[in-house]
Amino acid sequence: MCTANVTFILLLYYSTTYTILPFGFTVEKQFGYVTNGRHLQKHSICSKLHAHSQGVFVLRQHCFAVLFFILIFTFAVSACGDDDDDENNNDNDTADDDSIDDDASPDDDDDDEATCGDGVCSGGENCLNCLADCECFCGDGVCSFGEFCAVCPDDCDCETLAATPPMGWNSWNRFGCDIDENMIREMANAMVETGMRDAGYVYLNLDDCWQSDRDADGTIIADPDRFPSGIPALADYVHSLGLRFGLYTCAGTMTCAEKPGSYNYEYQDAQTYVDWNVDYVKVDWCFTEGLNAKTRYTVFRNALDAAGGGIVLSICNWGRYAPWMWGPGTGELWRTTSDIKDYALVMWWNMLYTEPLAPFAGPGAWNDPDMLEVGNGGMSDMWYRTHLNLWAMMAAPLIAGNDLRTMDADTQAMLTNAELIAVDQDPAGIPGKRLTHFGGLEVWARPLTLDGLRAVVLFNNRYLGGDAEVRWSQIGLASGGAYVHDIWTHEDLGFFEESYSVYLGPFESRMFLVAGNEHSIPAGDIALGDLPWKYTTSYRLETKRNRSVDGNPLSIAGVEYESGLGTAAASQIFYHLGGQCSVFTAEVGIDDETNGAGSVVFQVWADGERLFDSGVMHGGDAARSVEVDLTGSRELKLFVRPAADNAIGDHADWANARLVCF
Ligand code: GLA
Repeated sequence: MCTANVTFILLLYYSTTYTILPFGFTVEKQFGYVTNGRHLQKHSICSKLHAHSQGVFVLRQHCFAVLFFILIFTFAVSACGDDDDDENNNDNDTADDDSIDDDASPDDDDDDEATCGDGVCSGGENCLNCLADCECFCGDGVCSFGEFCAVCPDDCDCETLAATPPMGWNSWNRFGCDIDENMIREMANAMVETGMRDAGYVYLNLDDCWQSDRDADGTIIADPDRFPSGIPALADYVHSLGLRFGLYTCAGTMTCAEKPGSYNYEYQDAQTYVDWNVDYVKVDWCFTEGLNAKTRYTVFRNALDAAGGGIVLSICNWGRYAPWMWGPGTGELWRTTSDIKDYALVMWWNMLYTEPLAPFAGPGAWNDPDMLEVGNGGMSDMWYRTHLNLWAMMAAPLIAGNDLRTMDADTQAMLTNAELIAVDQDPAGIPGKRLTHFGGLEVWARPLTLDGLRAVVLFNNRYLGGDAEVRWSQIGLASGGAYVHDIWTHEDLGFFEESYSVYLGPFESRMFLVAGNEHSIPAGDIALGDLPWKYTTSYRLETKRNRSVDGNPLSIAGVEYESGLGTAAASQIFYHLGGQCSVFTAEVGIDDETNGAGSVVFQVWADGERLFDSGVMHGGDAARSVEVDLTGSRELKLFVRPAADNAIGDHADWANARLVCF
């Protein structure tokens, strides 16, 4: 009787919700939490943003219907309590009314507990695992899409150096060596006045030519003509505006502009930077003949740590000697290419080199395709938007390089677009990838920190206009349709069943947020080789189900496995768990197809926490067993990183990878 009551009311409620949806729906509200950036927008109960448990956004505007439902539902549940008590207490007819009520109250509490979809944001629920009940807002203790340290330090990771890609301004692209302390102070003021700081651009970095010499003790000296007040005074001023201060040096004997370099002065320079309260150091690679990049940058890292740590190390050796292999753990970011120029072709070229390196990057370790040219005048605004779109999809650092004092309103609006920045700075830090580029029509996608949410870029990389299309199945979404929002026009474009397509002019690109459904994990003991993943990136080769990356049967140290996943390090594979799984198991090792070559480290992560690390495994090693408790986890990440400097042969298998779910 009671079950029938509640089921009936639930059906009534959901049918009402979905029936009214096409009429009452305004997608604009959906992304309110994005457009408002710093303080995520709250909605009144009558126009509150909700989502059902699969992650599709539903706006329930019919306030009275909702309130009516809550009233009836509460009544039905309390009636259930009475029914149950009556049934349970058949033999206990001595119990008085009070004791029946007391017995009922724990049951009521149970009902309130973490039932996603009951409209109550209870313990264990938050906007990441139950947007149906909970809203994301800055200050709720959950670092969600649209939040990152610079705009929401209360919720987000400010401890990890560069937990999200660094954002700021650097003097080189626009001014080269023509810098002085007055100009830098003006630029610091402009960072505040133009809203750049509040949008997240917090580092103000001096590039080459601030230094002129070393004193008798070897301490680096700032150019006395250009910086007569000295660097500490300038750093103090920058800090007083709520900004962070960065400097440039070089791992070689001289900088690229032939100023004193840091070679063999690393420890002394690191101490000087700490004494001057420097927050960020970019270390270049000129005049380094005969030097080993990994060794020299490791010396720098150790020097910075010895001096007290806390300084971001930006490795700038132009992608030489594969810094993505040894950069993670050495610096927080590493250049992947030679210098950017204010031409579309060079910008695009830097993207081409950087995009395949996606699996190496993540929180605290970023691919750097070089600083922004936006606003420097060499490209059209259309190309600058593409520049920003591609950089945000790659989770690249956003270091502006234009004159902020004189930038026009369009440039300012482009650079401070909170929705684009939210994509770049997404707290999960999963770099996106180019899924297809058939016929010059590129589809890019990147998963974001909210179930069912993706950033998508459609880019027409050719002289002909044409329709570009993204299919939801392509971006790891399940069936059930998705909502689309344009991050440049800030328009909600509506609900689309299976895909979205749009006409793009020559070289035009657009970025969208897509809110759809994650695949749900079936109950039972499931082979991951049979499940769709949420997202994967794997270096040079595609991740494969039930096969090695080269397409052979999975095989580790002579043992063949029927199921599992084959990858090439570095690789990342994500599965949406939604708190429905308890255990992950696998046998990990390097596939026999490498003939004993290769060395990698396998790691299992859930919700940003590392749960397993295999240590270094070599080709030919027997498989290692993994068993990890996933209780309550939202998302699983299987990560393999190369252990040596050459990833050729790093074919890594997650053999027999399985989940137990309920
Ligand atoms: C190199 C770097 C640039 C800039 C100049 C300064 O070319 O790649 O980003 O720092 O040096 O001389």
